[in-house]
Amino acid sequence: MFEGKEIVLGVCGGIAAYKAAELVRLYVKAGARVSVVMTAAARQFVTPLTFQTLSGRPVFLELFDPAREQEIGHISLADRADLLVVAPATANLLGKMAAGIADDLLTTTLMACKAPRLLVPAMNSNMWEDPICRRNVVQLREFGVQIMEPATGMLACGWEGQGKMPEPQEIFDLTRNLLGPRDLVGETLLVTAGPTREELDPMRFLSNHSSGRMGYAIARAAAERGARVHLVSGPVERAAPAGVELHPVISAREMHDRVMALVKDCSMVFKTAAVADFRPACRHAQKIKKGADLSLRLELRRNPDILAELGRLPGDRLLIGFAAETEHLREHARRKLEEKNLDLVVANDLTVEGAGFGVETNVVHLLYRNGKEEELPRMSKDLLAHRLLDRALSLRQTGTFH
Ligand code: PMT
Repeated sequence: MFEGKEIVLGVCGGIAAYKAAELVRLYVKAGARVSVVMTAAARQFVTPLTFQTLSGRPVFLELFDPAREQEIGHISLADRADLLVVAPATANLLGKMAAGIADDLLTTTLMACKAPRLLVPAMNSNMWEDPICRRNVVQLREFGVQIMEPATGMLACGWEGQGKMPEPQEIFDLTRNLLGPRDLVGETLLVTAGPTREELDPMRFLSNHSSGRMGYAIARAAAERGARVHLVSGPVERAAPAGVELHPVISAREMHDRVMALVKDCSMVFKTAAVADFRPACRHAQKIKKGADLSLRLELRRNPDILAELGRLPGDRLLIGFAAETEHLREHARRKLEEKNLDLVVANDLTVEGAGFGVETNVVHLLYRNGKEEELPRMSKDLLAHRLLDRALSLRQTGTFH
C-alpha cells in the first residue's frame, strides 16, 4: 500500500518531534518516499540531519530557498504528496491553519495540498482543552482536515492529561487507511452515537457518560472510505465529521424515530449509541420542588429497544451492535447478539482502563454470529473504527471473518 507513495511529513516544534524520526523509518521501511518539512521551532528539538539520514532525501526548511526556487518549493511539495501528515502538530500550527495563515513552508504546503491531510496534535493538556484550540479543531475538521486525537498520559511538561502524541506505529496504521482504497463507495451506513437524554423536568434529565467519540470515529472513517453516512447522534460536544450527514436527537424515542426513518436505505448499521433503557414515566412541566420528604420516588418506563427492532426488520443489511458491560462481558454480549439478531457485537468492558466511555482509546472483544470471537488490543477509537469497517466488509464479502 505504501510502495511508491509520496508522503510529505511536517514536523513542528515540540518534544514529540523526536518520535517523528521513528515514523519516517516506518514509512520508508514500508516502501514510501518521504519528504520532511521542518518548522524553525522543530529544529530546536531535532536536527534536519536526522530526518535526512532516515528519509534518504534532503529536508525542506525554508519557504524561499534560492537553490530550489525554480520549482516553487511549497507548490511542488504539495503537488507530489499522496498524503500530508504533520506530526507533531502544535497548537500554533492548528491555529494558523484554522485562521488561513500561510507564512512558512509547512503552512503554505498544507494550504496548497489537495491530498488527504492528517494532523497529529501534541501539546500540554490545558492547551488542548482550551476553547480556542477546541474551536480550531472543530473548524479544521469541518474543512475536511483529519485530526488524530492525542493520547492521554504523563506529558513531558509534567502534567497528566490528553495531549501526548500517539505512538508512531498507531499513526502509521491510521495513515494506511487514509492511503487505502475507497472500499465503501456505494454503501450507505447508519451510525448512532452519544448518549440519549430523558427529561424529568425543564432542568433535569437521566443520561450516561457517552462522549460520542466511538460513533463519530466510525462515521468519519466510513466517510473517508467513500460511504454515504447518516450519523444519528445524541447530545455531544463534537462537530459532524466532514462529509457526514448529521441527524441530532435528544431522547431514545427521537433516536428510534430517526433511525427507523433512515434505515431502509442503509446497507450497514453501527449501533454505537448508549441509549437509555428507561425514561421518567412523566415529564414534569415545571421544576420539581423538594418538599419536606427526605426521599423522592421516580417511576420509569421502558424505552423502545431500537437495535432489537432493527434485528426484526427484513433485508440483508449488516447489523453491528455494541455492548457496554461491567461484568460477564462475553456472556452478556453473546446474549445481546442472539436476542437482537446481530451479525457482530462489539463488547467493551467499562472496568478496563482505556476502554468504554469518554476515553480516546478502546479495548474490545468481537463476537460473531457464527460463534467465532476475536480480541483486539487497546487502540485509538479512530483506528478501531477502521478495523471494525474492515471486519464489516469481510463479513459482507465472505459471510465470515478472516
Ligand atoms: O461515546 P464514547 O464515550 O466513545 O463511548 C463509547 C461507548 C462505550 C458508548 C460504546 O463503545 C458502546 O459500548 N456503546 C453501546 C453502549 C450501550 O448502550 O450498550 P448496551 O449494552 O446498553 O446496549 C446494547 C446495544 O443495544 C447497543 O448497540 C445500543 O445502542 C442498543 N440499544 C440499547 C438500548 C435501547 N433502548 N436501544 C438500543 O438500540
